[in-house]
Amino acid sequence: MTATQTAAPAQALPGEEGSGLDIRGLHKHYGSFRAVDDIDLAVPEGSFFALLGPSGCGKTTTLRMVAGLEEPTSGEIRIGGAEISHLRPFQRPVNTVFQSYALFPHMTIFENVAFGLRRRREPDIDRRVNEMLELVEMSHLAKRKPTQLSGGQQQRIAVVRALVNKPKVLLLDEPLGALDLKLRRQLQLELKRIQGEVGITFIHVTHDQEEAMTMADTIAVLNKGKVEQVGAPVELYENPRSAFVAGFLGQTNLLSVNVISRDASTVAVDFHGVRLTMPADRLSASGTAVEAGVRPEKISMADLGQAPSGMNTIDGTIIDASFIGVSTQYVVRAVADAEEEVAVFSQNSATRIRQVGEQVSLHWHPEHTFGLHEGAWIEAEAAEVAS
Ligand SMILES: Nc1ncnc2c1ncn2[C@@H]1O[C@H](COP(=O)(O)OP(=O)(O)OP(=O)(O)O)[C@@H](O)[C@H]1O
Ligand SMILES: [Mg+2]
Repeated sequence: MTATQTAAPAQALPGEEGSGLDIRGLHKHYGSFRAVDDIDLAVPEGSFFALLGPSGCGKTTTLRMVAGLEEPTSGEIRIGGAEISHLRPFQRPVNTVFQSYALFPHMTIFENVAFGLRRRREPDIDRRVNEMLELVEMSHLAKRKPTQLSGGQQQRIAVVRALVNKPKVLLLDEPLGALDLKLRRQLQLELKRIQGEVGITFIHVTHDQEEAMTMADTIAVLNKGKVEQVGAPVELYENPRSAFVAGFLGQTNLLSVNVISRDASTVAVDFHGVRLTMPADRLSASGTAVEAGVRPEKISMADLGQAPSGMNTIDGTIIDASFIGVSTQYVVRAVADAEEEVAVFSQNSATRIRQVGEQVSLHWHPEHTFGLHEGAWIEAEAAEVAS
């Protein structure tokens, strides 16, 4: 880990002390290229906030501007209400944990954690370091050197070495990126627990949507230097406002439809002669030609003509079935439009596995339908490839 050590906290405006992070109109241009292009973010104090997006979307650049390692082209960065853009990195109330743990190799684990405290001649070093080692259940390894620890253990130490300085905001840039999948999963849960215990604001950068959804209270999805959408994981997944978000967070079906009618509560659309409905507040596009979206796991399959009433229903033929353990993933070609293919994920519980060639009625609750602008599927597919 390379840490920017905490020094005197930035001067807060009266009544605005706290650890929330506020970013307004943040830009970083490299020549004519806009790596960060007008980002606004409000990160509440004490939250676990994820910056999620594909490679090159500007996550690290944003984080480095908060840490003071990169100078913004323009914009404001405030922590607890105090503008910090003019402060040197070591003066900012933040610490950063990077992907490579970079502990001091010649020092013991204890001394690695104690380093910042000793440099600032702080009191109570033994107690504070021991508290941190207990937090990650590594007290018994205090006398070891970093090379005598596993990657996961080193990264835990990198995190507490940053936390011991009591930053107002901890910045984490793909801290689990170098670890294997199983260890990543374990550390995701552990980091979440640690954040809950210390109550410090965490900003976690990742390109892994599952990781962001597992850990964060709030996710900001970034694309090409801009914020696409901010919200709780469930909100982003269930109600994506853009094709990019729909495609980047999981798989989605997008059907090209035409709006037939709209009222305050419901929008009805036509899909090749089939009427589908969705809640009015889930359509984020104007115009007549739109895309109706539904996640594959929201769709059930019945024998042809046996779909329950009140559901959105499309008849089709199964053209592919892949058994993948917990679920079977089907591809169904819609009868109404032989071009349109619909992905359906069925839990392998009570229902039997269906065969390729079977005719079925697909059905899902109208509330699980969302609407995006025409042609959104092209962007959604590009986002899926990037994710
Ligand atoms: N010093 C620089 N000069 C020119 N371009 C840069 C510089 N630093 C970053 N960029 C560009 O800015 C964009 C954003 O980079 P950044 O490192 O923030 O991406 P990222 O979202 O962290 O990606 P990754 O997931 O791959 O780490 C990229 O296109 C990158 O090439
Ligand atoms: Mg990066």
